[in-house]
Amino acid sequence: MTLLLFLPLIILLLILLSAYNGFASSEIELPENRYGEDKSVSPRILVAYATRAGSTAEVADAIGKKLAQKGAGVDVKPLKNVQTLNGYQAVVLGSAIRRGAILPELTAFVKTYKDELGKIPTAYFIVCMIAREDTEKNRKTADSYIDPLRAEVVPVDAGIFAGKLDYSKLSFIETIIIKYIIGTPEDDLRDWQKINDWAENLSPKLLNINKEK
Ligand SMILES: Cc1cc2nc3c(=O)[nH]c(=O)nc-3n(C[C@H](O)[C@H](O)[C@H](O)COP(=O)(O)O)c2cc1C
Repeated sequence: MTLLLFLPLIILLLILLSAYNGFASSEIELPENRYGEDKSVSPRILVAYATRAGSTAEVADAIGKKLAQKGAGVDVKPLKNVQTLNGYQAVVLGSAIRRGAILPELTAFVKTYKDELGKIPTAYFIVCMIAREDTEKNRKTADSYIDPLRAEVVPVDAGIFAGKLDYSKLSFIETIIIKYIIGTPEDDLRDWQKINDWAENLSPKLLNINKEK
């Protein structure tokens, strides 16, 4: 009974702590890699990502490797380390989905670089748990997450990939919400074949290059 009385207060506290990203999660690795050797000849592609728990970074890296295999020089970077788009002939931008939205740093990035991105082929991809069941409704919902980016810069393609949930990579508050309130189980649902196929098909749309190295 006493617990019931305090329950709204506890929930409010959790929400407030969550807004401040309460109890930080463990350190997340943010890989930064360069692929494709012939830097002077190859066209360069930037694959930049926004992540919270790291799974989108690994998807970005796989996309970067595949684009390099198709003949491009590729830089894979966390979005926060991108200082310029100079020297890139095409850009691929990816984000994790949290609370029904693209991470704010990617939306801000696309707004900031709107003019430059509008002049070169740009593609988006998102990594989210709603894509774990491939139904029309889920596809529509996931696709709608990308709309704020489309409103700024129309992409040549947009990939939607199922993601990964690892409680050990979440903050205390996020774990409480995801594990106990929403009840989403831990799982790694990334379909590497689908991710690689998407990158392979994307390659000619970005640069019209198709030679396998
Ligand atoms: C707090 C939180 C909120 C999330 N919200 C959504 C959501 O609204 N829709 C969705 O499809 N997936 C959601 N997810 C699942 C993530 O998008 C998925 O775990 C993704 O792989 C995370 O990417 P990251 O590891 O790069 O951060 C959420 C995950 C967490 C931890």
